[in-house]
Amino acid sequence: MRAYEIVAGSDGLEGLRRCDRPEPTAAAGQVLVRLRAASLNFRDLLIARGKYGGAPVKQAVVPLSDGAGEVVAVGTGVARFRVGDRIAGTFFRDWIAGPAPSGARVALGAPPADGVLAEYAVFGEQNAVLIPAQLSFEAAATLPCAALTAWHALMTIGGVQPGQTVLVLGTGGVSIFALQFARLAGARVLVTSSNDDKLARALALGAAAAVNYRATPDWQHEVLRLTGGYGVDHIVEVGGAGTLGRSIQAIAIGGRIYLIGVLTGVASDVGPHGLMTKYASIHGVYVGSRSMFENMNSAIEVNAMQPVIDRVFEFDQALEAYRHLERRAHFGKIVIRI
Ligand SMILES: NC(=O)c1ccc[n+]([C@@H]2O[C@H](COP(=O)([O-])OP(=O)(O)OC[C@H]3O[C@@H](n4cnc5c(N)ncnc54)[C@H](OP(=O)(O)O)[C@@H]3O)[C@@H](O)[C@H]2O)c1
Repeated sequence: MRAYEIVAGSDGLEGLRRCDRPEPTAAAGQVLVRLRAASLNFRDLLIARGKYGGAPVKQAVVPLSDGAGEVVAVGTGVARFRVGDRIAGTFFRDWIAGPAPSGARVALGAPPADGVLAEYAVFGEQNAVLIPAQLSFEAAATLPCAALTAWHALMTIGGVQPGQTVLVLGTGGVSIFALQFARLAGARVLVTSSNDDKLARALALGAAAAVNYRATPDWQHEVLRLTGGYGVDHIVEVGGAGTLGRSIQAIAIGGRIYLIGVLTGVASDVGPHGLMTKYASIHGVYVGSRSMFENMNSAIEVNAMQPVIDRVFEFDQALEAYRHLERRAHFGKIVIRI
């Protein structure tokens, strides 16, 4: 089958190579999926650059965690799916429901688990979900990591309520899903971006206010002004070291900061004490369980929600798709058709 792999020791996008691999077969309890689309996450850049987990991959791996396709064969004993079902694999293997399993978790697209930038993949039947009926494969391929992370933060942990305020940082995959879910919950959404055109698109999607963090580096003051000095109830914190201190200043009394991303790095001298007098908290979020994914898909289906796709690349253009992500020119998700 046609596939891509990140070669062992890769420390840049040159490590992404086309390859031919044997078509996998479904063993007992597994389904064989003809993948139709995959989407990129910031994590995939880190893996190719040899920066994920602090070291290059030690063995070649098919990249990308997020993909959707149709079941073309099932192994013996499979009860959850039939041939023809439209499914997506879960980011983590074997986190079905409840708290995350302790210890190392295996996730698609990094050793030891091959990902979905290939014509076929096998998933354990417990590690896949039906995709929302109204979504194309391209749209459904955006869900397993970015959407689920935003859902887990705002809906599973945060329980966002109508009338609350949600701040999303930037206009990448996680943040735009967070904007969409917060709106479904009836919240008022504030968004930051480095780009005024992207801010205009966020406003068109339903954001109530937009702040350019390049033009206004101290954006936390503007957020406080926009909320009458009260601050925001929920912050989808994808910035990391460079934004956390400002997020702590912008959070409301009793508010929650969801620590999700490291776009500006991890090393920081920001102290957490600003949370104390506000009774606020920081909550770590790392994707989510299959059960959360199923709940999210129900909400997407009932609300006829459509993920925001910036651009769809063809399979032969995978490297261009990575470069597009690297340039941060996108708004929402980048997809590769397979
Ligand atoms: N914990 C988890 O489970 C989890 C899951 C998914 C992602 N993540 C992490 O979350 C982060 C975002 O991932 P993604 O896939 O959504 O990335 P993405 O689609 O590549 O989004 C990148 C966008 O973030 C914005 N950004 C960059 N620096 C910023 C800053 N200093 N302040 C505010 N916004 C900034 C930019 O938006 P503008 O162009 O609008 O400025 C940029 O386009 C990454 O660090 C990723 O590793 C974590």
